Amino acid sequence: MRFSEDFLSELRSRADIEEIIGKYTEIRHRGSRTPVCLCPFHTEKTPSFVVYRDTQSYYCFGCGAGGDVITFIRNIERLDYTEAVRFLCERTGMNMPTDPVDDEYARLRRRCYEANREAARFFHSALFSEKGKQAREYLERRQLTAETIKHFGLGFAPDSWDSLLKHLKAKGFSDVELVSFDLAKRTQKGNTIDAFRNRLMFPIIDLRGNVIAFGGRVLDDSKPKYLNTSDTVVYKKSQGLYALNFAKNDSSRRLILCEGYMDVIAMHQAGFTTAVAGLGTAFTNEQISLLSRYCDELVLAFDSDEAGVKATQRALKMLSNSTMKLRVLHLAGGKDPDEIIKTYGKERMRAIIEGAVNDTEFALLQAKKKYDTTVEDGKLGYLNEAVMLLADINNAIERDLYISRLATELNVARDSILSQVNKASKNKAKIRQRQEFDKILKEAVGDDGGRNPNPQRRQFLKAAKAEEMLLALLMKNPDYFRKLSGKLSADIFVTDYNKRIFEGFEQRITDGRSLELSVLSEDNGNEEMGYLAYLLALSGNVANTVEQCEECIKVLLQEKNRKKIPEIGQMSDDEFRAMFEQIRKNTNKKDV
Ligand code: UTP
Ligand code: MN
Repeated sequence: MRFSEDFLSELRSRADIEEIIGKYTEIRHRGSRTPVCLCPFHTEKTPSFVVYRDTQSYYCFGCGAGGDVITFIRNIERLDYTEAVRFLCERTGMNMPTDPVDDEYARLRRRCYEANREAARFFHSALFSEKGKQAREYLERRQLTAETIKHFGLGFAPDSWDSLLKHLKAKGFSDVELVSFDLAKRTQKGNTIDAFRNRLMFPIIDLRGNVIAFGGRVLDDSKPKYLNTSDTVVYKKSQGLYALNFAKNDSSRRLILCEGYMDVIAMHQAGFTTAVAGLGTAFTNEQISLLSRYCDELVLAFDSDEAGVKATQRALKMLSNSTMKLRVLHLAGGKDPDEIIKTYGKERMRAIIEGAVNDTEFALLQAKKKYDTTVEDGKLGYLNEAVMLLADINNAIERDLYISRLATELNVARDSILSQVNKASKNKAKIRQRQEFDKILKEAVGDDGGRNPNPQRRQFLKAAKAEEMLLALLMKNPDYFRKLSGKLSADIFVTDYNKRIFEGFEQRITDGRSLELSVLSEDNGNEEMGYLAYLLALSGNVANTVEQCEECIKVLLQEKNRKKIPEIGQMSDDEFRAMFEQIRKNTNKKDV
């Protein structure tokens, strides 16, 4: 919804960006003009996230995240724009203005929660009805207690085309609603049918206790084994973790990440109530940041099969910069935690968790598996891989420990391993430095690894840089629009991306609205907000003068000529059509 500028500027002054960000990450050099901190949006060990007090913005030079306080809340709390404003209102004790469009969206979400809750109730009671007999028997075979079934709210979707549909329609939900909540599907013939049929149902519950989605398992060997709700107004699969609503309450700050629903349930039933799982997607960075909010130690408990080991290695790689302590379960003698518990009991599981190896040990074990270390060749192969792994460890004591262990294990002189490791680590440092250098070099010539969203930046680098500076100066000094009238127009822009942003600015100035970042965030998505914050960050140390703008304009006029555009009369039909399409696209974009 659109808020008044008065309201937004008041919100901005009450919700101080430094104070708000400080609630999520520790701010260093507090009180300075540009405090820095570890970026809460990606994992890093040296701070590259800068807070700009004067423009009340932030920009991360590591991952390119940036914007104003509203953008920050949107991303860190995963809220949409209006929800983020509401969140800040609550924090700062301001009243939230109401708006019919906003109300409509909120109403849709409420309806989705209601429908899901009602569906969960329906599935749960179906499980205990006549129709649920087979499903109950299945759960019994998998040794789930009545208490567990109730705790997780498990249910059964009957073997029928429309039993849930009929039930929910009788409660006042429409076909359209149910299809958009992914509780129903539209067939090719145009009929509406239940999305889940003849499946065991696992409701997915968010941190506030709302039912937001479902996973459904077949009772036999048919495929697909699991069906999951797709993304809806209340659910984003890549961001969720099953059972985090229970696991987060544990004070240990240690979470156990399993592969599936049934593993989590078996673990909780056996008393390991910190188990969680992804929701039918590969492990995502969003899940990492969610996990790191609730734990300091993460135990990976993926299946022991090849796919599970691959998934573990992939996850460890993604987690390599995280500050969470990492450990990996060694699930010998069983495929997944559920089977271990069933075959060997929970005491064995407890021992396995206690004996979980850390990430280095896991990597060493995996490397060792590849070789026959009873023969010289195999020993050497393993040793070479181990040396490379140990070269990555920064902590000298820890590295020493592994070297000693390896020396004993392979019966090799400790010193010779040590010197190999030192050599490898020096080499790696050199490679890293080289990469750093390349990165800086690339940034200097304008290729910032694709973070700059302007697709024509590389092609018209000089112009793009002048445009960036000009936009930043205008954002900071909107009075320059008047001072430069006659010289400043969208026509002087060379790249379309910046031109569009300029046109947006121009429109706002004409409408008498402001160019404050906090006001711009209602019209711009994440990408543009990051970009605008980046521009402000870049312009941080230049003098704010009209002459600066005039310099930029001069560069643009020169560069414009280099972008030679053929006269319309000389265009081929194809060129003309392409130009026509481009203009139409730009006009449409402006309309939305
Ligand atoms: P698994 O096949 O390992 O299932 O898939 P599981 O958890 O051991 O289930 P049981 O013991 O056979 O009942 C692991 C996870 O991958 C996702 C699900 O989240 C599942 O829990 N998955 C698997 C799907 O989303 N769809 C599928 O078809 C299969
Ligand atoms: Mn299983």
